[in-house]
Amino acid sequence: MGSVKLTEGVYWVGAIDWDVRNFHGLTSPQGSTYNAYLVVDEKIALIDSVRPPETEILLRHISEIVDPARIDYVISNHSEPDHSGALGAVMEAAPSARLYASKEGVKRLEKMFRAGWDMVGVGDSDELPLGNKTLKFINAPLLHWPETMFTYCPEAKVLFACDAFGAHIASSERFVDELGIERIMPYTKKYFAFLIASFRKAALQAMKKIDGLPIDFIGPSHGPVWRGEDIPKMLGAYAAWATLQLEPKATIVYGSMWGGTRAMAKAVADGVMAAGLQTRVFDIDHSDLSDIIAETFDSRLVLLGSPTFVSGIYPPMEAFIPYLRIPRDKTKKVGCFGSFGWAGGALKHLTQMLAAEGYNLVPDPLAFNFFPDDAGLDECFEFGRRAAGWAQQESTAGEEKAAN
Ligand code: FEO
Repeated sequence: MGSVKLTEGVYWVGAIDWDVRNFHGLTSPQGSTYNAYLVVDEKIALIDSVRPPETEILLRHISEIVDPARIDYVISNHSEPDHSGALGAVMEAAPSARLYASKEGVKRLEKMFRAGWDMVGVGDSDELPLGNKTLKFINAPLLHWPETMFTYCPEAKVLFACDAFGAHIASSERFVDELGIERIMPYTKKYFAFLIASFRKAALQAMKKIDGLPIDFIGPSHGPVWRGEDIPKMLGAYAAWATLQLEPKATIVYGSMWGGTRAMAKAVADGVMAAGLQTRVFDIDHSDLSDIIAETFDSRLVLLGSPTFVSGIYPPMEAFIPYLRIPRDKTKKVGCFGSFGWAGGALKHLTQMLAAEGYNLVPDPLAFNFFPDDAGLDECFEFGRRAAGWAQQESTAGEEKAAN
């Protein structure tokens, strides 16, 4: 049996993907799952599907519970192919099924599949009775596409939340408490930082809609299912991320061709740490961009180190700037440092680029010709300490201003 019972009449019938390592930039070193759920009552509903390669697994898991031909309703919470990819096979296996999606979702599925399916567009006040159970639809636009919705079963107290509250991790366990919430949360945070952080307002609106609903289970579309006391813990973390409560910490991201900027980065980090900020340092050439984003997105201070490359920014660092934009947060403080050989230029371009993006810049970027000597390393240390102190001070001033 690969399917798993959540509660009476509600089953996980999705697929575990141990192999996937990248979702358009978001890495998944532990794989992922594509979660689909079957609600069995007088009528039978399938909620979401899986990627096309996992279609047979989905159908097999459904068949362990009911003949797929008996499915009456297919609910598409989100039309991205990791959840809609097997719909063609499902609709073939369930020829009497009607397909339910948000009104926007129906339009997308029509364009994506051009299959002439019997589809119904639903919204916030719509319900679908199954017999003793009901499915209620909750629009959750931008989590993570504009057409996305949640489906809620009040009698079973299950919220099917699609991408929201998900995590890319494959595991034999289907519930968060079986794995331990401490193990899951870094994956949940990374997922939020990369996919949801751009849509924080939408996340808060969706969370407001589900606030107060009796919920025993939250079934996301990726990773294990939340239940029991893990639910409020996760929702609390989500609320903190969605309101972008910046942590008193710094992330230093640098690139280096011959070690000058690397030496600077390490001394700068020592200065930041001496000022009392938790600090993480990433070499842009040897780090996973989505891991960096998981750190920068709630860091109060971000320091970027770039050597000069053809009078400009070191290309891997220049390519990183759009990723820094993902959380759409202009309250964090961003500073620059870097070494140069015969002519500078990186810091001028980097500063211009960041200023044009609207970031609050640490004053006086620090440049060195070739490698910093002992006195130079001391300067780097002081730059880090000063940047950390300035970021703390500016943030406190900003918070006081907001409070008044
Ligand atoms: Fe898991 Fe937005 O798809």
